[in-house]
Amino acid sequence: MPRTKLVAGNWKMYTTRTAAESLARAVAAGVPASAAVEVAVCPPFPWLTTVANALQGSPVSLGAQDCANEKEGAFTGEVSPPMLLDAGCKYVILGHSERRHILGESDAQTNDKVHAALADGLHVILCMGETLAERQRGLKERVFQRQVFAATSGLSDEQFHRLVIAYEPIWAIGTGHTATPEQAQEAHAFIREKLTTLFGASIGQNVKILYGGSVKPDNAAGLMSQPDIDGALVGGASLKAETFLPIVQAAVAAG
Ligand code: 13P
Repeated sequence: MPRTKLVAGNWKMYTTRTAAESLARAVAAGVPASAAVEVAVCPPFPWLTTVANALQGSPVSLGAQDCANEKEGAFTGEVSPPMLLDAGCKYVILGHSERRHILGESDAQTNDKVHAALADGLHVILCMGETLAERQRGLKERVFQRQVFAATSGLSDEQFHRLVIAYEPIWAIGTGHTATPEQAQEAHAFIREKLTTLFGASIGQNVKILYGGSVKPDNAAGLMSQPDIDGALVGGASLKAETFLPIVQAAVAAG
């Protein structure tokens, strides 16, 4: 069965409540119910319910940008997977490079969060990718191998069905220097091969692998046409419907 594409917008720490609501409405209005791709938006925590309301009746899914690895408890400032489900989320982004590199989150912490989110029924968009220094030193495969293994160890087959990987080379995030379609395809094929070796052909073939890092309307079609690129995780260009919707259309056109 071919993998359906997913285009997800990571709004990061941007938007006001009003801007989030109107962006969500504009995205919802631009994605037909019959769209052959899945679309998700991931606003900041405080706007989740506002955006959930704005998306009602549309096929656009809601996601969050992080979660705790516990259901509840004395964890000041944390937000748990059941809370995200309650707010209407289907997805949660985990292991984003900004959390790994700016906030110091480890592979082990990411793995704990992946387990907690999947156990409670969320779908996870698990991010991974190499730094420029790692790429220049020829270490990118080693990094992918470590990140795939560390973040997915112990998952059941059923949980893998709710896991999406996002390959986001750190040197391409927010820089305007997107990976070429060939560079991205090479990385995606390697990650898929690792999944196949570690967890079997069915998981290797079925897990979606999104590309993220300076995806824009003018480079989306080239990326989406690669055989192992199953969609995009979009940062900056997801903050305006005029730049996000053409990326969705590129995914539709690529099939
Ligand atoms: P940009 O699209 O702004 O490069 O961000 C990518 C990203 O980090 C998505 O999670």
